[in-house]
Amino acid sequence: MDLGPWRKSFEEIIPVPGDKSLTHRAILFSVLATGEMEIGGWLDAADTRASLTFAQALGVKVVEETNSRLVLQSHGIPQEPHDVVGCGNSGTTMRIGAGLAAAVPGMVVLTGDDSLRRRPMKRVAEPLGMLGVPVLTRAGGLPPLAIQGGPHGGGRVTLAVSSAQVKSALLLAGLTAEEAVTVAEPLPSRDHSERLLQAMGARLHGKAPLVTIDPGKLAGIALTIPGDPSSAAFWCALSAILPGRRIIIPSLLFNPTRVGFFRALERMGAQLDWHDEGSLPEAWGSLTVAGASLGPIRLKASDIPAMVDEVPLLALLATQALGTSVIEGAQELRVKECDRISVTTQILRAMGAEVEERSDGWVVNGPVKLRGAQVDAQGDHRMAMLAAVAATVAEGSTYLQGEDSVAVSYPRFFRQYEALARIAR
Ligand code: S3P
Repeated sequence: MDLGPWRKSFEEIIPVPGDKSLTHRAILFSVLATGEMEIGGWLDAADTRASLTFAQALGVKVVEETNSRLVLQSHGIPQEPHDVVGCGNSGTTMRIGAGLAAAVPGMVVLTGDDSLRRRPMKRVAEPLGMLGVPVLTRAGGLPPLAIQGGPHGGGRVTLAVSSAQVKSALLLAGLTAEEAVTVAEPLPSRDHSERLLQAMGARLHGKAPLVTIDPGKLAGIALTIPGDPSSAAFWCALSAILPGRRIIIPSLLFNPTRVGFFRALERMGAQLDWHDEGSLPEAWGSLTVAGASLGPIRLKASDIPAMVDEVPLLALLATQALGTSVIEGAQELRVKECDRISVTTQILRAMGAEVEERSDGWVVNGPVKLRGAQVDAQGDHRMAMLAAVAATVAEGSTYLQGEDSVAVSYPRFFRQYEALARIAR
């Protein structure tokens, strides 16, 4: 795919698809809920479809499906799937799904594509094992996973790495445990599961990084999912990268555990205007971002969970900021859909950036005039979108390999990108 530079200033309203984390949860939690689950504004993408396939394999029925509304029906008691379940590229389906499988009276086998089968699963297999839910993995804790669901115990589990996916798996296992389950994390991770489970009738105590769930039942609810901050981040980076661009993202999820990227953008000097519009199922509103001269950023481990998927974008922004930026404590990026520390370095260096790669992040010197190059997203949706944003400020054309990967989280990304490019070239 050929991506040229953009020159003109513009002002645009850019709607983004529904939040991926919330869509996964609404679909997966419906398995344990009695009645109908109405999910307005759901993200229809490859990752969330993997969760839908899994939920159906456990007995959930699709009552209505349009591109803006999904209605699911369940009896709240999952059945044993007839076959191995494919999670595609979706780590969220596999990890949260492993916790859901604890409630299945039988065996659940979860597999995935080449990328997912390289991702660490010991982090979910071990704590589930401690609750008495046996989870077998391949050597090295790699998928496929074979989970033996059924009666299991509760107790306190301490995670070595903060992970919303693993926390969610344990909270789901807690619902069908004989006693309460407490999850302790080193740093608080996103709290969508806690909020949604409570809205569906679960009893939770405390808040991340220390949450307890009592055994109990769920009931289906109706919810409308706001726009995904992780998808909006690409457009906000694009508008922040050069003065003269201003964009408005309507109906965006404002959950404080998800907006770290936007807060970092403000610290770098971009002008952001937050307009609160509602609080159900979670805080949301419209966000305006205007480009400005950017200063450098310094990020440490405690900053990372609230912006984890957006951190590579901050490395890109740092190439355009005046000064030296230091991003540390982001080693989790090495075990995402690809090694995002290494692939971000490759993309930015190919485009002429001054980037020093470290085991847990980067040191970036800016500003540097980027130039078009041949880059490879290595099958990772977020790397493809990062390269596309970088191309808008690069001199000359950028040739991107692997643009199809955006189907995982943002199927319309390049359609919106090209529409914007038409007014910006
Ligand atoms: C997610 C949590 C994060 C994030 C992933 C989605 C979720 O991973 O990177 O894209 O929906 O819970 P962790 O489980 O490592 O926090």
